[in-house]
Amino acid sequence: MPVAAPPEALSDAVRAWLGDGRHNLLIGEERPAAADGRTFETLDPATGKAIAEVPQAGAADVDAAVRAARAAFDEGPWRTMTPSARARVLQRFAAAVADRADELAELESLDNGKPLKLARKVDLAETIDYLEYFAGWPTKIEGDVLPVSTPEMLCYTRREPVGVCGQIVPWNFPLLMAAWKVAPALAAGCTVVLKPAEQTPLSALRLGELALEAGLPPGVLNVMTGDGETGAALVDHPSVDKIAFTGSTAVGREIGAKAGRALKRVTLELGGKSPNIVLPDADLDAAVKGSFQAIYFNTGQACNAGSRLFVAREHFDEVVGALAERARKTRLGPGLDAGTQMGPLISQEQLERVTGYIESGRAGGAELVAGGGRPEGVDGGYFVEPTLFTATDDRLDIAREEIFGPVLVALPYETLEEVAARANDTEYGLAAGVWTRSLSSAHRLAAMLQAGSVYVNAWGMSDPAAPFGGYKASGVGREHGHAGLGQYLETKTVWASLR
Ligand code: NAI
Ligand code: MG
Repeated sequence: MPVAAPPEALSDAVRAWLGDGRHNLLIGEERPAAADGRTFETLDPATGKAIAEVPQAGAADVDAAVRAARAAFDEGPWRTMTPSARARVLQRFAAAVADRADELAELESLDNGKPLKLARKVDLAETIDYLEYFAGWPTKIEGDVLPVSTPEMLCYTRREPVGVCGQIVPWNFPLLMAAWKVAPALAAGCTVVLKPAEQTPLSALRLGELALEAGLPPGVLNVMTGDGETGAALVDHPSVDKIAFTGSTAVGREIGAKAGRALKRVTLELGGKSPNIVLPDADLDAAVKGSFQAIYFNTGQACNAGSRLFVAREHFDEVVGALAERARKTRLGPGLDAGTQMGPLISQEQLERVTGYIESGRAGGAELVAGGGRPEGVDGGYFVEPTLFTATDDRLDIAREEIFGPVLVALPYETLEEVAARANDTEYGLAAGVWTRSLSSAHRLAAMLQAGSVYVNAWGMSDPAAPFGGYKASGVGREHGHAGLGQYLETKTVWASLR
């Protein structure tokens, strides 16, 4: 298969890594092709052309990877090495990623389409923070001594790693989502089979290579490229103890059901339709700037995108006007072009999905205020303009369903109680935002909103120490921090008679 020459903008290092465009699986220290020889292409979303060819892992490959992870877990030394030794390996892993940050950002920008600057400042910066943060955890995992009421009995807990983890991640922040999964699992002493999304397999393969170079024992982190079939094989494998997934709510429900039947541990980070509320006393400039980023950041492809904007009626026209003006000025282009502010969508499938929603918004009577089409002067690629609708009907599809693209629907409201009820009238509950100068309104709404994260005069804040996850159909469990680590640990209670 001829692989398209990578864009001129790539550095020699990334060009060299891309090489002949073939990148195999990672199982232990081996780099095999798929057992049945199947492959697929990963595409540059700015052109639709192939960047590289990777294996489509099948059930046999997944089985080999899970066996490698099982052996690495059962036979050690990962789980049994001292906490400080495990921490040192993770520190070296974080440092290896930091050393290659520029290359990884280029690779991410090429494979995902996002602006290179965004890849550096968000994806790479946060990936490195995340790996460093969890490298600090192995030496701080503690059990308790419990004040039981049985005389002459020592009762204590041990926190032990869950085991082999199957980790399935999406394409919107490929490396960062891999880090969110891999870092706490490794800190806990688990072993991993990681499956990146079929749209963006490259940075996960590179991450696996860097982990080995940094001294992670072979088999502790294995990487399987492939689509939903590969993911399903991982979920179905009886020797996988825990599944961690980020992606669509539909697939999350299916994985949750399977994990329930098999009684596997499971964490799910799913979709959203997050409400962002501008109160009458808000700093409107800050609200406009923040609300613009909340939806259009990463071309709207963020699980916590602020995709429903509720604006107090008295400021509605002003806020909508200012957002529309910003949308019209946004420069779209390939991620690797220095002037690009917004990249393409990830795929033809997402382009069709997003344009389908834009059509449905128009047909349903929402008013199109900005965007709505393909940008002028951009040939090929999966581009769509930043799009803004206004509407009054919360039941429109564009106001209820996750679009996962640069499409915002703005809705006017009258009172705080009304807007809280409308904000909560959704199956989702990932994030919510409030713009106000009133402390009491801010904290009243923060308590009323059904969402795993509430942002006040800000949007999308993230930190490895701060729990993240969903209420309702937005997920199960929390990632990050103490809570996130705990999802990779079992609690064992030991009773010892002192008689
Ligand atoms: P998806 O949920 O199908 O894919 C996410 C990951 O799951 C990928 O690695 C995929 O290969 C894997 N997968 C797919 N089917 C599977 C199965 N049956 N068993 C195990 N793994 C499976 O999401 P997709 O199709 O890429 O995007 C569709 C929509 O999902 C988007 O438009 C968006 O609404 C939502 N989405 C949400 C994300 C989030 O961050 N919460 C990320 C990506 C997509
Ligand atoms: Mg899918």
